[in-house]
Amino acid sequence: MGNQILKGKKGIIFGALNDQSIAWKVAETCHEEGAEFILTNAPIAMRMGAINELAEKTKSEIVACDVTLQEDMDKLVDKAMSKFGKVDFILHSVGMSLNVRKGKAYTDLNYEFMKKTFDISAMSFHRLLQTCYQKDAINEWGSVIGLSYIAAQRVFPDYNEMAESKALLESIGRSFGYHYGKFRKVRVNTISQSPTATTAGSGVSGFDAFMSYADKMSPLGNASGDDCANYCVSLFSDYTKMVTMQNLFHDGGFSYTGISQDVMDLFRENS
Ligand SMILES: NC(=O)c1ccc[n+]([C@@H]2O[C@H](COP(=O)([O-])OP(=O)(O)OC[C@H]3O[C@@H](n4cnc5c(N)ncnc54)[C@H](O)[C@@H]3O)[C@@H](O)[C@H]2O)c1
Repeated sequence: MGNQILKGKKGIIFGALNDQSIAWKVAETCHEEGAEFILTNAPIAMRMGAINELAEKTKSEIVACDVTLQEDMDKLVDKAMSKFGKVDFILHSVGMSLNVRKGKAYTDLNYEFMKKTFDISAMSFHRLLQTCYQKDAINEWGSVIGLSYIAAQRVFPDYNEMAESKALLESIGRSFGYHYGKFRKVRVNTISQSPTATTAGSGVSGFDAFMSYADKMSPLGNASGDDCANYCVSLFSDYTKMVTMQNLFHDGGFSYTGISQDVMDLFRENS
């Protein structure tokens, strides 16, 4: 049942591919908290079919949208407005790197792939915000979240061009947060999440090793997808009305830890 802190709120949730996806968990938690929403993903992801199960469970409609196509974004936002009037919250949980997928090293990137990566993973956040802004699709005090990773600030060699995608995503969140705040008191934030075992996450080489490294470095351990969903709900709620233009670390303390006892112990064992 949850606490119904999103009762009456309407939204759009991008990026639920399967039950490991962070967006999937956000959708389940938003539903428990009383929200209604549209689920969206790229047409190609729809063909995998799992999203239908989530739609049934959360009593949601599914609308296809490839985030790189303006006509798809227009149709999605128009559809949301005809169903709900204006919306109160949006989750952008979208990311994909063609260079990572094709196993290209950071020192040997294909630039056409790189443009596509930026288009899908970062420019789409601007496209979404600009489309909503121009159509005036979000209610006052609405809340928009994009999902980021600490590779925007620090080097994680295998994260590849996704590091630049996340830096761009966070910057768009700040800049658009200013304009949307002034225009309609809409909040825009990014959440910098711990490594999480999902389809996108596991695509990064050495993912298991850096997931356990992050877990050992973080005083609270890694934040799970379910924890992330709860945090998103708090940011969609009216309890965080004055939080905007922030990149919010949701990582069990990883971002501010220099070295942990657990990691030191591992080095001692091996020396
Ligand atoms: N998993 C992690 O370790 C981790 C950590 C921090 C941040 N994130 C971010 O969280 C977000 C969600 O990723 P996830 O880990 O849940 O993985 P995921 O693979 O479940 O989700 C990524 C989603 O992006 C969608 N997508 C890809 N191209 C698209 C397009 N052209 N149009 C529309 N949708 C498209 C995919 O279909 C998929 O649903 C991403 O931005 C990711 O970078 C993930």
